[in-house]
Amino acid sequence: MLYDVIVVGSGISGLYAALYARRAGLNVALISKSNSLRSNSAVASGGINAVLKTTRHDSCRDHIADTIKGADKLARLSAVSAMVTGAEEIIQELRDMGVAFDTDEEGNIAQRPFGGTKAKRTCYIADKTGASITQTLLMQCRKEGVKILPNYVMLGIATYKDQLSGITLLRRRDSQVIALACKSLILAGGGFAGIYRGHSTNSQESSGDLIAIALRAKMRLANMEFVQFHPTTLLNSGTLISEAARGEGAYIVDENGERFTDELQTRDKLSRDIVKHQLAGHSVYLDFRHLGEELIDKKLPSARKHALMGAGIDILTELLPITPSAHYTMGGIWTRTDTSSDIPNVFVCGECAHSGVHGANRLGGNSLLEAAYFGRMAGTEAAKA
Ligand code: FUM
Repeated sequence: MLYDVIVVGSGISGLYAALYARRAGLNVALISKSNSLRSNSAVASGGINAVLKTTRHDSCRDHIADTIKGADKLARLSAVSAMVTGAEEIIQELRDMGVAFDTDEEGNIAQRPFGGTKAKRTCYIADKTGASITQTLLMQCRKEGVKILPNYVMLGIATYKDQLSGITLLRRRDSQVIALACKSLILAGGGFAGIYRGHSTNSQESSGDLIAIALRAKMRLANMEFVQFHPTTLLNSGTLISEAARGEGAYIVDENGERFTDELQTRDKLSRDIVKHQLAGHSVYLDFRHLGEELIDKKLPSARKHALMGAGIDILTELLPITPSAHYTMGGIWTRTDTSSDIPNVFVCGECAHSGVHGANRLGGNSLLEAAYFGRMAGTEAAKA
């Protein structure tokens, strides 16, 4: 079978890429190892960053500066600027597709603070943002005629005379190895934080297999040493309790009920503070008790559910034991700002890409933005190619 464009990976970057390649009138296949809702995009719950016309006390300039500072100054300025200035259009486009962002009393998109900034910049749907956007994009891809092939594991990039000719795949249903031909390929298969089994917010599907395939195809990798640990995950399972909790005012406390850190500093610093406190013999908890049932049920329903199902804790009245777990991998397959890579007609986006926007540490809320912005770019560029 010959496709114009094959997209591998069905998180937000892959879905966006497939949609934009399809909108150029092309024959597009979207390959997925399992289910879009098990992707890391669907796990990123707390929100997506954007400076909107209605955002108070913020600017794109501040968003760029916070991103570079949070990245320990190792981010690529041109890529960060492009992403940040494109953010409002992405939010509007998602809204037009049917993503029901929460709104404030004036009917404007509501925004909450996330770590590493003083601004309220993160747009959200309660604490289910990634899953809501993923669902909407999936339905849009179906509606617009993207061919979705679930349960296929990519094995390799096929080339002929050093040019892309297609990919090889394992069909999970019957363990058959098959080949598909394509003119352009988009790699959007996620990072590798799932390899920290039992200590990760990711499903085991986030195994870095596309990054390994790229390495075998002699593509460059960059910043592979930068792995982000999310500060607040359930102690015994690594289940994510979204940064939305701290954005809405939950505290981090120890067994004495004492706060010992700034809850809205960047994730790298906060995780280090928590681990230092644990190594000094303390237990660490999220404290929601002062927030009240109405706010929790409106803005943090998933946190309440995960605490109850995963730890048997009612956050209305009890402290929730937490610890940092692997959440996101900043490095990946080297790309240019237009998502092109070392192999002509192969484009890379989302967490498997090193797009240069996160440096050594990503700000919460910038991953969904990166996925959407560079996914759209990859679909557009692959279609042109
Ligand atoms: O905590 C969270 O909701 C995660 C968001 C993110 O990784 O951007």
